[in-house]
Amino acid sequence: MNYLQNIVRSEPNVNVKLLNYLPKIGIGSAREEIFTGLRAKQKYIYPKYFYDGRGSELFEEITQLEEYYPTRTEKKIIAGLTKKLYLDFSGLNIVELGSGDCSKISLLLEQASREELKELTYVPVDISESAIEKSSVELLKRFTLKNVTGIVADFYCQLNLIPKNRNRLFCFFGSTIGNFNAGEAKAFMTSLGKTMQPGDSLLLGADMLKDINVLERAYNDKKGVTAQFNKNILNVVNNLTGTEFDTSDFEHYAFFNEKKSRIEMHLRAMKDMVVNSEPDREAITVRRGETIHTENSNKFSADDVERFGKWAGLELQKILTDKNDWFSLSYYRKI
Ligand code: TRP
Repeated sequence: MNYLQNIVRSEPNVNVKLLNYLPKIGIGSAREEIFTGLRAKQKYIYPKYFYDGRGSELFEEITQLEEYYPTRTEKKIIAGLTKKLYLDFSGLNIVELGSGDCSKISLLLEQASREELKELTYVPVDISESAIEKSSVELLKRFTLKNVTGIVADFYCQLNLIPKNRNRLFCFFGSTIGNFNAGEAKAFMTSLGKTMQPGDSLLLGADMLKDINVLERAYNDKKGVTAQFNKNILNVVNNLTGTEFDTSDFEHYAFFNEKKSRIEMHLRAMKDMVVNSEPDREAITVRRGETIHTENSNKFSADDVERFGKWAGLELQKILTDKNDWFSLSYYRKI
């Protein structure tokens, strides 16, 4: 495999190691992928293009909005976890898939004893090298751990790169599983189950079905931060491909699709437009009222949560929820 880089950076005092396994995806294939989406009958842009510097900042802002309940609710469940569930932290590798700013794992580590922490290895896995680097340093200021082994990778397809030297607690927070479609979720859980060994366990966050008004409010905040975040994907596309989308020609459009049990995020064109594309190819046209689909966020039931475990061949030990049953954190074990 051709990796972009495979740096092994070790810092002697703090025991941080960073491994970069991101496959080399040239700008050319990103362009191609984007134009394919913009030529489809229902236009789409993959949600991975949300997260440039500005996009990550805006998402961070979303997680603090009064209307956006998922982050806050999940954090509360994590903070009270060991009161509800016996977790043996001794000698573990804690693997966090999509670790981001490490704020969720901090809430978990706060519940381990000093002795347990000293023997813990934290393995953040994220697509952003800078996020891992920054958050690992922050984390080590607060906790004395055995070491941190950061893995820069796409966890959807690179689970096999995660060290298997000790029992592992996988953490997959944020209901990111809800951003996969049904086929992807099944494929992901199956391969996660395959990579897990007896003694390994999983904490999985899943956003639950609830009153449509609560759901739709969470994706249509009053301050318009969510709209800015959604529109920013066009700036990312402009930078990558040279298109000249004007974000003010689009409006944010998010609604609950009851049949599919998911929030859909779109950008709706407010006028007809022609977008320049590759030379020698027909221009891309967008009609007034047409939408570009940017993300789905599936909402789940307890049955779904059980099904995730079955796909992975894991035993569901417990489903923890908040007082409204808005969000769930499920604990599974590989037997
Ligand atoms: N993964 C987040 C979610 O499903 C992302 C998100 C929150 C999002 N608000 C958004 C994506 C608005 C697009 C538009 O909740």
